[in-house]
Amino acid sequence: MRITGLGHASVLLETAHGTILTDPWVNPAYFGSWFPFPDNSQLDWDRIGQVDYLFVSHLHHDHFDPEHLRRHVGKSATVVLPEFPTSELEDALRELGFTRFIKPVSGEPVEVDGLQIMIQALISPTDGPIGDSSLWVYDGQHRVLNQNDARPSELDAFKELGPIDAYLVQFSGAIWFPMVYELPARAKQALGLAKRERQFDRTLRYIQECDARFVFPTAGPPCFLDEELWGFNDIFGDESNIFPDQRVYLEWLASQGHDEGRLLLPGSVADLADPACAVRHPVGDDLEKLFAHKESYLREYQSRRMPEVEAAKATWAHPEIDILSALTEWLTPLLEEADHIAAGIDGGIRFTAEDAERGDVDILLDFTTRQVRAYADEKVRYRFRTRRAYLEQLIHEHEIDWVNSLFLSCRFSAQRVGPYNEFVYVFFKCLSEERLNYAEGWFAEQNVTEAAETVVLDGWQVQRRCPHLKADLSRFGSIDKGVLTCQMHGWKWRLADGKCLTSVGHDLRSSPAS
Ligand code: FES
Repeated sequence: MRITGLGHASVLLETAHGTILTDPWVNPAYFGSWFPFPDNSQLDWDRIGQVDYLFVSHLHHDHFDPEHLRRHVGKSATVVLPEFPTSELEDALRELGFTRFIKPVSGEPVEVDGLQIMIQALISPTDGPIGDSSLWVYDGQHRVLNQNDARPSELDAFKELGPIDAYLVQFSGAIWFPMVYELPARAKQALGLAKRERQFDRTLRYIQECDARFVFPTAGPPCFLDEELWGFNDIFGDESNIFPDQRVYLEWLASQGHDEGRLLLPGSVADLADPACAVRHPVGDDLEKLFAHKESYLREYQSRRMPEVEAAKATWAHPEIDILSALTEWLTPLLEEADHIAAGIDGGIRFTAEDAERGDVDILLDFTTRQVRAYADEKVRYRFRTRRAYLEQLIHEHEIDWVNSLFLSCRFSAQRVGPYNEFVYVFFKCLSEERLNYAEGWFAEQNVTEAAETVVLDGWQVQRRCPHLKADLSRFGSIDKGVLTCQMHGWKWRLADGKCLTSVGHDLRSSPAS
């Protein structure tokens, strides 16, 4: 099997039984904030797009690029769909012209014209835009696991199917934390440092568990070409930057005693039949220029691609929209139904849409009275600020997922009192009846499901499954000074009383082992 890198999470798998294209992404995402690094726009996408199968792992726009799919991917491709709880991904792909679909049962291998395929769909409200997925493929010669940025709690289901030849895993950040928080620089730096270490540590655990012949770091990092986001690029030697590039990660991986890492850039080709899996890169000497002179590379990239973002920016303001009444009409019915989310947020969220010329609009989403109203000096624990034009664009587009638009754009700032509260972000990604009801149902089920199994770790008896997203704590848990950290996402618990130190709720059952 041959693997051709196409940038970010996109690869072309040329198997003994057909070709598979995954997650092609070229156009800037999230209000023009994210671009693939390195630039992949020069690839021959019309040729690449003539494939037998298409796999889109989830709806985040650095994986699902509708404009690109519409123009460059052949509609005779069979779409291999994850079994998600809503039909949004399938609907969106049908709208783009795809007509052939197969949807394997999650976690069960299927045979399709000689190719074995398994998709594991993650479906909690906190997984991507209500769903993220990994793809496993076996063509009778090689097995590939494209985990992408899904976070399965364990890899047993894939490993049981035989030794894995190639493992594609996300290693870089894909979030707004901690950069957008209004915190002193030193605090932000400490948080970024810890986050970067945790990202790397998580991949190492996965890599050790997967035990694949070769590892390909993928699904990141993005780069930021807009001048106002330029500081998010990892070009300043700052180890608290959460977007380290492929070269930085592979050097770190090697320092951990792993030499199976392989660099995959847009156009790089890896042949799994080669026992050493030497990778041919398209850029030759430019490979050095790319990483050693990353800033000048990004400046050239910026001058090529920013004009399209500048043109788009001019369309985002919609002065005809009355923000308060539009949000009241849209969000009030959702607030009324959001029982578990409202209990989790337990207060208000202040949202300020700023505009120096037209004036600010200051809104309160009150989860106690379930109302949207003008902010009137109430004390709140959560506050967001963004530009008025961005909020108007969200309303204009009736964007039901503000995580998959505004928040991932990093074009906002945030304040909070107390720990991270996942209910806040679940609400903002569930701004439709369908999604909100799904999330509410999920939380209702969680409350009645007892995590019955326990394990003993360092003298403590704790529930086996992480209260966050059910990672197996016998594998992902580590204890230091009475605090348990789950390395899956880095959440922490105080073992003396089981209190979650990372997020509201989610207590852990723990006691000293006798
Ligand atoms: S599963 Fe997320 S921190 Fe444990």
